[in-house]
Amino acid sequence: MKFFLDTANLDQIKEAHDLGVLDGITTNPSLMAKEGVKGYDAVVNHYKTICEIVDGDVSAEVLSTDFKSMIEEGERLAAIHPNIVVKVPMIKDGVKAIKWFTDHDIRTNCTLVFSAGQAILAAKAGAAYVSPFIGRIDDSGWDGMELIYQIRAIYDMQGYFTEILAASIRSTNHIISCAEAGADVCTTPLDPLLGLLKHPLTDIGLAKFCEDAKKFS
Ligand code: E4P
Repeated sequence: MKFFLDTANLDQIKEAHDLGVLDGITTNPSLMAKEGVKGYDAVVNHYKTICEIVDGDVSAEVLSTDFKSMIEEGERLAAIHPNIVVKVPMIKDGVKAIKWFTDHDIRTNCTLVFSAGQAILAAKAGAAYVSPFIGRIDDSGWDGMELIYQIRAIYDMQGYFTEILAASIRSTNHIISCAEAGADVCTTPLDPLLGLLKHPLTDIGLAKFCEDAKKFS
């Protein structure tokens, strides 16, 4: 399973990159706004900087919701860097746009996916990635992880090549469960990723090894 960081924060991106396990980045308009990126030129520069740090796919989301504007915007985003993947919402014009981008060799990430039916449509339109939002499904009282299992089973049975990019990660356990469920990619904030490092027995064991090492070093 690939690890993407779900942020537009450059310090966090550098920290995850330095760990050596970062395969890509996802952003969305809320994450860009959080970093105070304002105006088209600033957005382009921000994506350029991210692409310089990370050697992997970087999802850049369109802001428009009609077919024509999504195409114009997506073409501009895709021109920023070869690793840019155009992120398109799961709406009717979005599906049409994904098909158009697919036919014009521009890779897409279909976002805001909450059902298996939506995941099937994204794959049929040729999306490179589909983003089921498991945390938001959990928040609404349903089981987000069940959706990952369901999409995995359908994609394998039907031979769809779209990669399952589990999104809206809330915890370290979500990441582990995504790996168990066969997600191709898990995009996570930094804290749940760093949570994978932690175990009290590791800390206790290392303290003892360091203490014993003093006896012979
Ligand atoms: C996906 O690509 C989205 O950017 C993201 O995972 C949404 O997560 P949230 O539900 O924590 O906002």
